[in-house]
Amino acid sequence: MKALEIRNKYLNFFKKHGHNVIPSAPLIPENDPSVLFTTAGMQPLVPYLLGEKHPEGTRLTDYQKCVRTNDIEEVGDNRHLTYFEMLGNWSLGDYFKEESIQMSYDFLTKELQIPAEKLSVTCFAGDKDCPKDEVSASCWKKAGIPEERIYFYGKDDNWWIAGEEGPCGPDTEMFYDTGKPACSPDCQPSCDCGKYVEIWNNVFMEYFKDKNGYTKLKQKNVDTGLGLERMTMLLQGKETPYDTELFEPIMKKLEELQKIDSIQSRRIVAEHLRSSMMIIADGGRPSNIDRGYVLRRLIRRMIRHLNKLQVSLDEISTLIAINVENLKAMYPELEKNQAIIKDVILEEKNKFVKTLAHGEREFNKEMQKAKQAGTNVINGQVVFRLYDTYGFPPEVTKELAEENGFQIDLEEFEKLFKQHQEKSRAGSEHKFKGGLADQTEETIAYHTATHLLNAALKQIIGKDAHQRGSNITAERMRFDFNCDHKLTEEEKKAVEDLVNKWIQEGIPVTKQEMSKEEAIKSGAECMFIEKYPDIVTVYSIGNVSKELCGGPHVNNTKELGRFKIKKEESSSSGIRRIKAVLIKE
Ligand code: ALA
Repeated sequence: MKALEIRNKYLNFFKKHGHNVIPSAPLIPENDPSVLFTTAGMQPLVPYLLGEKHPEGTRLTDYQKCVRTNDIEEVGDNRHLTYFEMLGNWSLGDYFKEESIQMSYDFLTKELQIPAEKLSVTCFAGDKDCPKDEVSASCWKKAGIPEERIYFYGKDDNWWIAGEEGPCGPDTEMFYDTGKPACSPDCQPSCDCGKYVEIWNNVFMEYFKDKNGYTKLKQKNVDTGLGLERMTMLLQGKETPYDTELFEPIMKKLEELQKIDSIQSRRIVAEHLRSSMMIIADGGRPSNIDRGYVLRRLIRRMIRHLNKLQVSLDEISTLIAINVENLKAMYPELEKNQAIIKDVILEEKNKFVKTLAHGEREFNKEMQKAKQAGTNVINGQVVFRLYDTYGFPPEVTKELAEENGFQIDLEEFEKLFKQHQEKSRAGSEHKFKGGLADQTEETIAYHTATHLLNAALKQIIGKDAHQRGSNITAERMRFDFNCDHKLTEEEKKAVEDLVNKWIQEGIPVTKQEMSKEEAIKSGAECMFIEKYPDIVTVYSIGNVSKELCGGPHVNNTKELGRFKIKKEESSSSGIRRIKAVLIKE
């Protein structure tokens, strides 16, 4: 059974059981600065798990695109992936353990036709916070799993929470027996020898954890997650996800192109390329902070491994095209954004190539120095310098080191990295707080015009047209935003007209202080949420615009004069730039 068929079977099965199918949220969470990427199907649903009414009802199902980056260095083995798809079904205060378990059992044994003998399950063993989950165990027995294949484990295995705080609860997990021999007489599902593979996790979310401990949620929810790549591999009797149709074409091409054979490097290239493409399709761009930095690491690590395979970097376009072709039925967004994906990856490649040779030379020098000093550890300062000056992600340095029998002092690197982040964060807060350095009447007017332009672009071009930068002088404004095409004359005119309409309407500009959380909830627009302090200023222009901003602004839009776009051009890949002026009449 192919992955897409499994996905469709899943969604149809739950539809038949009264669930509404909701779309996958983007990989880059909307208005959730607490995480870099969507890491589970429940994440976009948190408000509803906490009790808010979901417009689609109390039974939902979807496939969710997920990126988890804590295992980035494990990619290359036979199971870790940074990008994966999670199939999920939810009960928001609707059904609970019995129905959830019965549906899972039926889906696995009837729809996917997994023989019941291949299934084992685990339940929560109980502790001071929550009793032993006898209910789930008896539901499993009733469904058809014999007692000897029902195991009980503690919080480490059978409790689920995303991070440190939030909705959570005991879970029951389903395991598939691959038929491999047991590693020992007490080999169990919790053992990671590879005999048992976890295939599905049903979380009975009835608690909320914060720093004071656990409290009961308003409602009892079910949150489940089934990893599509893993299920596909098992049903096809394959050893790894790379052997399934999801990766086969790209793996085959890499084998054809490589001059040095390395299965690990081929897997890293295939995995990181798919992951990067998915992130870029959802609006991610490489940078030196946060999610942009994760993307940068993925692309750069992929390039390093193409080099290890001695595959020419000119082949990257071919590899992208293969992935688009192979995956477009599952992810039409890859085809739609093909040009941007290619531009972004190639631009990042060019940047990295420039520094790579230089950085490697530097690394070799440091290695010699370490050798002379009688150590095989590359100190954190060197790792940081390679990162800061040569754009070497630490795992690239680590890999280089390991290839030469060296280690790196990652702890020291991380300390330096943190200090560096805090410094640059403090710097940008300062910048934001300070607002416009040159506060003349003209620059203030341009500043307000920037907000109007930002709002107009969202109405004319699309709600994903976000501000990427701006620059203001007393004579003109420059505004960068993401957009995948050159604006047409009609679009430019519509944007200009809308801004002028708002100016003529004489809309008052108001200012409010609130917590960052409240600001996000209220839908205020902002460029880099991570960079703002906890209490922020929000400027509103009637109902037209609402933005986190340090100000200052005019009091009323009628003070602006006539808005005119002078030029619209490309700024970098996927980013357009508008130059505009205000004409006093
Ligand atoms: N949220 C649960 C998980 O990610 C289902 O495993």
